Amino acid sequence: MTRKKNGPAPRALRQRLLRWFDRNKREMPWRGTKDPYRVWLSEIMLQQTRVPVVVPYYQRFLQAYPTVKKLARAKSVLRLWAGLGYYQRARNLHRAAKEIVRKHGGRFPKRLEDALALPGIGPYTARAILSIAYGQPVAVVDGNVARVLVRLFCLTEAEVDNRPALQPLAERLVSRRRPGDFNQALMELGSTICLPKIPRCTLCPLERLCAARQAGVEKKIPHRQKKRPRPRLELKVFVIEREEKVLLVREAGGYFSGLWHFPYTTGRNKSGIRANGYEIGTGAGRRVATVEHTTTMRDLVLQVYQPPVRAGNRRAVSESNRHTRWVRLNRVQRLGVGAATRKVAALLQEKRRKQQREDVAGRQRPAS
Ligand code: ADE
Repeated sequence: MTRKKNGPAPRALRQRLLRWFDRNKREMPWRGTKDPYRVWLSEIMLQQTRVPVVVPYYQRFLQAYPTVKKLARAKSVLRLWAGLGYYQRARNLHRAAKEIVRKHGGRFPKRLEDALALPGIGPYTARAILSIAYGQPVAVVDGNVARVLVRLFCLTEAEVDNRPALQPLAERLVSRRRPGDFNQALMELGSTICLPKIPRCTLCPLERLCAARQAGVEKKIPHRQKKRPRPRLELKVFVIEREEKVLLVREAGGYFSGLWHFPYTTGRNKSGIRANGYEIGTGAGRRVATVEHTTTMRDLVLQVYQPPVRAGNRRAVSESNRHTRWVRLNRVQRLGVGAATRKVAALLQEKRRKQQREDVAGRQRPAS
């Protein structure tokens, strides 16, 4: 990593940054609390997810589970996470809550090693929680912070992806007096001012201190890595109806692990699909829709089929149990389902409404 120019003096940087943060910070429901559980929950939800999306989920989640102990006792937390994506976060949160109750008396640990040993807590999240909730002088380097540092210090060879290389610099800069605010201020600067493509330098409190801006290279660094194309995955999804209800399944593993979803195959399986031991014919199905859904991991294309329930399998789909259930289409959204399943259900509901409108219109039309 080479420095073309010296970056800002730490003291001036802290002063300006914190003053800017005090005046400009966005309102967020977790700002102003030092309750480690709330800080932890907010940091987990904010991973890969924007603030406005997180806010209602955060509030609903806290209403249902106001303490770590209540969270630890929950049966499954996926229902309240449904639609937020990255469900592994929710599973880890739940597991970590149990561990905190078992090993740390129900309070998020203060030691970095203990925090890092919890499921779902990486170096960034651990430091964010310890600095915000406990005022520990540890620095966070997330993607936004990395970009800000690379520009402030004109680190031309630094790759934003190499966050550990930036950690010592961040540790030297972090405010000893207000580490939580300092970290949040840098993150906020990165997400609102020091934007990846077109930084809003004239609004930046650090403009005059920024080495990249002084050198006129603020738009050129950090060099952006070419994004790898996301893999595209096509699934055949089966909507099986019986008495106005549709069949949903749930299993551990697979693309919808732990979430209720329509039975599916990846299309490789020619002989028909089995959903939790229930064989569902594929051959006679009619494709009724195509639903596209983008996640950060992959582009999903769901080919939606409506096969009849095979005669020989009536018994198989005649009961609901832990892994299968029959649900009215308009109630699918209320279960722990992911965004792709919601989209399929919404589309089918719309189709059904349209069909009903056409039926009514057909009945009202005078016979010619
Ligand atoms: N991104 C993740 N956590 C954040 C926080 N506490 N403040 C601002 N942006 C964030």
